[in-house]
Amino acid sequence: MSERLAGRMIGLGVTGSIAAYKAVELLRLLRSEGADIAVMLTPAATQFVGPLSFRALSRHPIETNVLDLLPDGRIGHIVIADSADAIVVAPATAHWLAAMATGLSGDVVTATCLASSAPVVVAPAMDGDMWTHPATTANVAKLRSFGYAVIDPDVGPLASGQSGIGRLAELPAIVDAVVALLADRSIRASDPAARPPVVAPGRDADLAGRHVVVSAGGTREAIDPVRYIGNRSTGKMGVAVAEAALDRGARVTLIAADVEVTLPAGATVIRVESTADLRGALLRVTHGADGSAGYDALIMAAAVSDFRPLIPAETKLGRTETLTLDLEATPDLLAEIARIAQGLDSEGAVTRDPLQPRPILVGFAAETGSLDRTAEKLRRKRVDLIVANDVAEAGSGFGTDTNRASILAADGARSDLPLQSKRAVADAVLDRVAVALDERDRAAQTDATSEPAREPA
Ligand code: CTP
Repeated sequence: MSERLAGRMIGLGVTGSIAAYKAVELLRLLRSEGADIAVMLTPAATQFVGPLSFRALSRHPIETNVLDLLPDGRIGHIVIADSADAIVVAPATAHWLAAMATGLSGDVVTATCLASSAPVVVAPAMDGDMWTHPATTANVAKLRSFGYAVIDPDVGPLASGQSGIGRLAELPAIVDAVVALLADRSIRASDPAARPPVVAPGRDADLAGRHVVVSAGGTREAIDPVRYIGNRSTGKMGVAVAEAALDRGARVTLIAADVEVTLPAGATVIRVESTADLRGALLRVTHGADGSAGYDALIMAAAVSDFRPLIPAETKLGRTETLTLDLEATPDLLAEIARIAQGLDSEGAVTRDPLQPRPILVGFAAETGSLDRTAEKLRRKRVDLIVANDVAEAGSGFGTDTNRASILAADGARSDLPLQSKRAVADAVLDRVAVALDERDRAAQTDATSEPAREPA
């Protein structure tokens, strides 16, 4: 597929809707069509998603304030207004539609639209009742009278928990609208000097726009309502991975079993207790919409119990001379997720399409003694990477702040890391995850360009 926006400059305005995080993916899609993107955020948008991700992905300064000047003294939003081939406002809130309809230019997105002769595409997202309110209807009609292309929101689940109209339109539909609008127009400002300046990519934002799921802590399997089978995991390693991923710009979902450390504020936390709970949470997050993958990478740092009582007692077990517990093996969750990701059934036969885009899967292996079994574990679980550590070694393993780990990759590569902080181990793991994700995306792009052209549906 050729790049339909090659050489174009697009101003992307983001306003304060819960759907603001989708703008990061929209930016990626627009870039993959060859466009150069400059991002403007309203103050409310910055509450939902920080400028770091947008800056890393767009390679331009992010405009958040009408008074901001570029390092060379030019007025940031005016440079976008004058050089953009199109301005896309996605998501657009009811408040923003009202501000734009009346020309109130207090925020940088409205100010840029007012100052620009470029075509404007607006993709609203809001609560259903807000969308159907006569005030919003009138504001949308006003925007259409300016010649703006307003893409109606979709019907589906909303942030309120209700279902109705108001979801941000599908991102490819927004990209198609931009492409259609620019079909007959020449490029406005091909001279880079007329565009916003290029900034170096933040070295520490290499997971911007990625969704990383981390499991942490030890599971507990009930023996009776009072007692459980647990393990010595404190959750330190998993939490270090979650914190490192957040610092590198990722959106992080942390599935926390029993942990003894504070959970990072920026992560979406799902609390679980047993292996069955953890399995349920993993299955829920693994499936995104329409058979897509629900995340870019899964890092399974949780210490999952390998056995659980066959039948937990419903009431507290009384004291006896001896007690024998019947245990059953728990399912291997990571192996199950890997099979789902690869479209395999429990026997390993291909029965479904693999999840797209392919998530990168990382396991941890707590070993005592040699790491000889780890390579076999990596193959058995069909994961991309296994981080192995000898929990019997001093300074490594449960409850410590340090770890000596080896990272084994599916291609046979092995690197033995020195004894270092769990945070440094986390970053070393994420270095490999970031590279694997970039390789995955490049491979997908090559596949797409080598596919024969399809007839339009
Ligand atoms: N794991 C899992 N489900 C289980 C057990 C482990 O998903 N029932 C995951 C862990 O979270 C970890 C990886 O598999 O990422 C390896 O865990 P480990 O206990 O070392 O491996 P096991 O498969 O349990 O093998 P063994 O206990 O024989 O060493």
